Amino acid sequence: MIVIASHNGDIGIGKAIQILKDGGTAMDAVEAGIRLVEANPDDHTVGYNGWPNIIGGLELDASIMDGKSLNSGAVAAMKRFPYAISVARQMMERKLPHVLLAGNGAERFAREIGAEQWDEMMTDEVKAVWQKRLAQSSADSSQPLDDDTPLQDRVKIATDPERVTSTVNFIAIDKYGDMCTGVSTSGWAWKYPGRLGDSPIIGAGNYADNRYGACACTGMGEMAIRASTAHSVVFYMKMGMSVTEAATQAMKDLCDLGGDYIGRMNLIAMDKNGEHIGMSSSAGREYVYQTADMSNHEFLERTVVDIPARWGSSA
Ligand code: GLY
Repeated sequence: MIVIASHNGDIGIGKAIQILKDGGTAMDAVEAGIRLVEANPDDHTVGYNGWPNIIGGLELDASIMDGKSLNSGAVAAMKRFPYAISVARQMMERKLPHVLLAGNGAERFAREIGAEQWDEMMTDEVKAVWQKRLAQSSADSSQPLDDDTPLQDRVKIATDPERVTSTVNFIAIDKYGDMCTGVSTSGWAWKYPGRLGDSPIIGAGNYADNRYGACACTGMGEMAIRASTAHSVVFYMKMGMSVTEAATQAMKDLCDLGGDYIGRMNLIAMDKNGEHIGMSSSAGREYVYQTADMSNHEFLERTVVDIPARWGSSA
């Protein structure tokens, strides 16, 4: 039994491993671990108190995937429901004929299942940072922000490479050998309203298959969407690569992406036997793991695979 997570999952990994030790499923462990990150007001990249979009709306994305059945559920651009991972899980378990709901539809579903709703999702401190960035995003900051205000240029100006994206990833294997992957995020700070990242897209930010392994991504979701990164890692394992070879190849695939906005990418991956690896395009990044026989989690440095950034260039 093992749980691995992105570095910000340290707050939830102890609970996740305890659930596994108590006989719970990988899915129970992943959901419980991620909920603690979603509730953490100091994490501005996931759940409650995340950075909002350019017009000040906090829109959450999340997905969960069951490696046994390849079933999955996801929600995207969902406001007012902090535990996006639980709504994603219910999307899967209530057996709707759908995998992903976005925006008003996701909120309607969350209400229908009685998910916890918080009308206030951001502290004044986070709102103040947003206000400042909004003012910097336009030469004419006296311009009112309404439904018809053009946002294309504001989004480009307000995009802050240092504050772009983070996310939480969890992957667990339970005593039955079943794998589950969960991903949750508030997405790209100051994003265009309605922008979805890789986190709710199965195959981009999240993929699990008991027969081979699992992968989850953080970083610039647009890249993982374009390269199907999480699925690629699992597919490369299916083709016979080790988890390290598979993750390295999927990171290298990102170097083929053209365009102006190539930034940071990170992933964690685990094979069906619990061998794991973390990768990043930046040095000094960590991920966290804990097995059932460890009394505490440990951080491990991610392997660096260079993806030359060309942020905002006209390449
Ligand atoms: N990786 C999270 C996002 O791009 O939204």
